[in-house]
Amino acid sequence: MIFTVAIDGPAAAGKGTISRAMAERFGFAHLDTGSLYRAVGVKNGDPVAAARGLTPDDLERDDLRSLAVGQAASRVAVIPEVRAALLEFQRRFARREGGAVLDGRDIGTVICPEAEVKLYVTASPEVRAHRRWLELGGDEAQVLAEVRERDARDMGRVDAPLRPAADAVLIDTSEMTIGEAVELAAAAVEAALRRAGPG
Ligand code: CDP
Repeated sequence: MIFTVAIDGPAAAGKGTISRAMAERFGFAHLDTGSLYRAVGVKNGDPVAAARGLTPDDLERDDLRSLAVGQAASRVAVIPEVRAALLEFQRRFARREGGAVLDGRDIGTVICPEAEVKLYVTASPEVRAHRRWLELGGDEAQVLAEVRERDARDMGRVDAPLRPAADAVLIDTSEMTIGEAVELAAAAVEAALRRAGPG
């Protein structure tokens, strides 16, 4: 079965948790596409060469989740050649046999517009900054400033800007528990699986 769940949205909206839960519940493979951009952003030197030469080991580094690497990722993510270098791998992953969940910024709009399920997961900047602060610590006002800066860069870029696909299901998690958000996402996946029919 070819079946893609595309999950897009801004930083710390809950995409990662929802994606992992969908992959586990439905037995799909999961790709956190942000880790590709983070792995490019963390490297010194030419980001285009880094994107073209990315290896699986690069994605396993334990320093990819920091705020600074998130910022570096969004800076290299505006470069069209970087995005182009990462495109084919993501497309193939999306259409692999057995089903796939991909989370990122442009999955439903650019990487896999034919995805059977598209979710746009969002929350207010304050709620997202608070979550990121609980996860990583530091100064909460500074975390909020960085969330806003990254939102502006991701939504304002020319190539593959962050925006909901026209047919995406919107999930605003500002006032939801993670359990509630996961159930909404699962209902959308189940409805699409029924539409796709057996096999
Ligand atoms: O986990 P968080 O939502 O904070 O960020 P991430 O998903 O790891 O993505 C880090 C950065 O990579 C984003 O701010 C985007 O600039 C970029 N990115 C992208 O451009 N396209 C994607 N499909 C995924 C990430």
